[in-house]
Amino acid sequence: MSKNKNIYCPNPYILAEIMPYGEVYPCSCGWIRGYSFGNIFEQTFDEIWNGERAKEFRRKLYNNDFSLCPGCQNLEILQETKDDEPRLISSPPERILLGLDEFCDVKCIFCRGENYKVNTNLIPKDKEDKLIEILTPWLEHAKYVKTNAVGEVFASKISRDLIKEIAERFPNIKFEIITNGIQCTKANIENLNLTDKISMMTVSLHAYSENIYNKIVKGGNYKKVIENIMYLSSLKKSGKIERFELHFTVTSINYREIPQIIKFCRQIDAKVRFLGLDCSRDLEKLYNKINIQNENHPDYNKLVKLVHSNDFITAKDVIVQGYDYFISLKQNSLYNKLLNLFFKKTN
Ligand SMILES: C[S@@+](CC[C@H](N)C(=O)[O-])C[C@H]1O[C@@H](n2cnc3c(N)ncnc32)[C@H](O)[C@@H]1O
Ligand code: SF4
Ligand code: SF4
Repeated sequence: MSKNKNIYCPNPYILAEIMPYGEVYPCSCGWIRGYSFGNIFEQTFDEIWNGERAKEFRRKLYNNDFSLCPGCQNLEILQETKDDEPRLISSPPERILLGLDEFCDVKCIFCRGENYKVNTNLIPKDKEDKLIEILTPWLEHAKYVKTNAVGEVFASKISRDLIKEIAERFPNIKFEIITNGIQCTKANIENLNLTDKISMMTVSLHAYSENIYNKIVKGGNYKKVIENIMYLSSLKKSGKIERFELHFTVTSINYREIPQIIKFCRQIDAKVRFLGLDCSRDLEKLYNKINIQNENHPDYNKLVKLVHSNDFITAKDVIVQGYDYFISLKQNSLYNKLLNLFFKKTN
């Protein structure tokens, strides 16, 4: 990639993902292959956020060296800057992702196999009582908190307690909730003091029909999820939630329901995000069986035909992540911004 000083990525200035064991990432851990800025249980806010590893990351990105971002799926976030020198020091991040508890009330087949054991050591025992104090320097300037990308927010006592404390101590913070939807009821939202504080709601629903849902979410409750989605839809339609998305991880089990889920999302005023299957969770055998992204999978061509035969490719309310073939179909939106920026510079 040619050097272009007018492009930079805002993430290492605005986003901190505080993940299992307290590691801090400036972006999705998988995209940056685990490049951590530091650890909240071992270092201070300044040592992490403006430490050597953070500066190195910002320097590289500013010089258009993306070697620390080999899995980036969000090139459209890149922006132009008028800065002549890289900004290595940053003011505190405005968006914090909290993923400190794996506990969940169900087992989705591609997330947790039969023998999956929830790791209860993500927060050191001697730090549990001090969690909110440790997080305070990260939260006091934040505008948004997203939780919980590694477990189920409504089923986790740690996540629920954190949300309540954050809502009380930092009243200006808005929440981005990601959930399987089962316990996302009006009562539970009110109980967590989240009413009027949700900027983004994401519900994972990997099926349109109950039959397919039950094949994927073991121990789930389809009817409850749909009931809660309808409630969230009413909040979205009345302007009480700014953004509303459904997540749909594409496999050979559910791909036939892609057109129905797109239609359903339009009815409920939500965007839909299709996720490619990721094999990082000890899925070996199951992964090969259901990974329809693989060209050698027996259903691969049926999926290709299906996504070509509806408005999947051009729709602005259809987002794709982690699925190379889908992304290549939609690549105009993903890469054009970057190409345009380079094009302008080289001409
Ligand atoms: C780990 S869950 C945590 C949040 C919440 N429990 C939920 O299900 O939305 C976050 C997202 O990861 C997705 N996910 C889980 N396992 C996956 C896998 N093997 N490949 C791709 N996405 C996966 C889920 O579908 C969900 O949308
Ligand atoms: S370039 Fe991509 S992977 Fe790297 S920080 Fe920005 S969005 Fe994340
Ligand atoms: S609900 Fe979320 S955390 Fe729980 S098993 Fe499913 S994907 Fe994983």
